[in-house]
Amino acid sequence: MLQDAAVLIDGETIAWVGPRRDAPKVGAQHAAPLQVVEITGVLFPGFIDCHTHAVFGAPRLDDQERRALGVDYKAIAAAGGGILQSVRDVRARSETELAALTRSRLATLLACGATTIEVKSGYGLELEAELKQLRVIRRLAGELPATLIPTFLGAHEVPPEYRGKRAEYVRLLCEEMIPAVAREGLAQCCDVFCEPGVFSATESRQILTAAARHGLAVKLHADELEGSGGAELAAELGALSADHLAAISDEGIRALAGSSTVAVLLPATMIFLGRRSQAPARRLIEAGAAVALATDFNPGTSPTLSLPLVMALGVSQLGLRHAEAVTAVTVNAAAALGLAANRGQIAPGCVGDLVVAAVDDWREVAYWMGTDVVSAVWTAGSACPA
Ligand code: NIG
Ligand code: FE
Repeated sequence: MLQDAAVLIDGETIAWVGPRRDAPKVGAQHAAPLQVVEITGVLFPGFIDCHTHAVFGAPRLDDQERRALGVDYKAIAAAGGGILQSVRDVRARSETELAALTRSRLATLLACGATTIEVKSGYGLELEAELKQLRVIRRLAGELPATLIPTFLGAHEVPPEYRGKRAEYVRLLCEEMIPAVAREGLAQCCDVFCEPGVFSATESRQILTAAARHGLAVKLHADELEGSGGAELAAELGALSADHLAAISDEGIRALAGSSTVAVLLPATMIFLGRRSQAPARRLIEAGAAVALATDFNPGTSPTLSLPLVMALGVSQLGLRHAEAVTAVTVNAAAALGLAANRGQIAPGCVGDLVVAAVDDWREVAYWMGTDVVSAVWTAGSACPA
């Protein structure tokens, strides 16, 4: 924590940070004139939302209402709601329409401080519709000042056409969809929803092994609602992250602690689903695992666009210290995307992604639950329009 600090940005990169009185004098030898911006409040590294499903059509209000009446997530999905409802919706929309819907959502995430955002496909579940979602992400990456990291999640659910012949869908994923996505350079990572009733650990291993063979980094929705060895599998495969983990086993905790796979926790999801349980964040940290937080922004289980809200939930629901909550959306979230070398810190050589919170005490960023505290955002050294 520095009081009365200064940050020098050269082009897109942080060149220096320290006490203002020690700031290097930038003289006439420099090509671009020095521009000075005075900040009141607390300056953080740009936040990193390392897990979102931001490309979708309509919100799923009926699912929410059914849940309020006591029906649970998997029963709603079995009755025709859930992920497959968003799949019908995404398949029916044009790329332009999806881009317009996604653009405003990503702009809100950015305004709430997320300067790097991972975005998954997974509501297409057929090659063309998955490519359409990934093209939306690529298009918006060129339009918005945030950095978008695209992840292929064709294994989000078995599509209705492959009901009763899931092995064929796994084959399609491994032999056609993953190679096509990799060939077009449309994704950096591949993710699987590894969960009893969705994809088994054996199927997840098959899919992620194919993805790795095609040069994609791997991630895993692991042990979200019921445990199935997802965390252990993620560690074994050298995944960037294992995400959710509300039902992680002791063995899974040990596996993550002994690996460089980041535990990405998504407390807003469990709250929105009306669940009383949360991932064992303290046990993960005490065992030596790296914990990140993300919104999991999606229409079924987490319609929030605010990482600061998720940080407050990290403190109140997961027992994180404020400093751990900040680490969880900065340097650890960068690691969950393979970006820890130059994102998630205010340090020389890091990308000039910065966020100002209009607060007196830095801990307030994880305190004002649901109130937007972010007052200014810079990405790659440039101010984002308010
Ligand atoms: O992270 N768990 C799987 N995927 C999402 C939910 C997607 C949906 O319900 O549309 C999640 O919670
Ligand atoms: Fe998710």
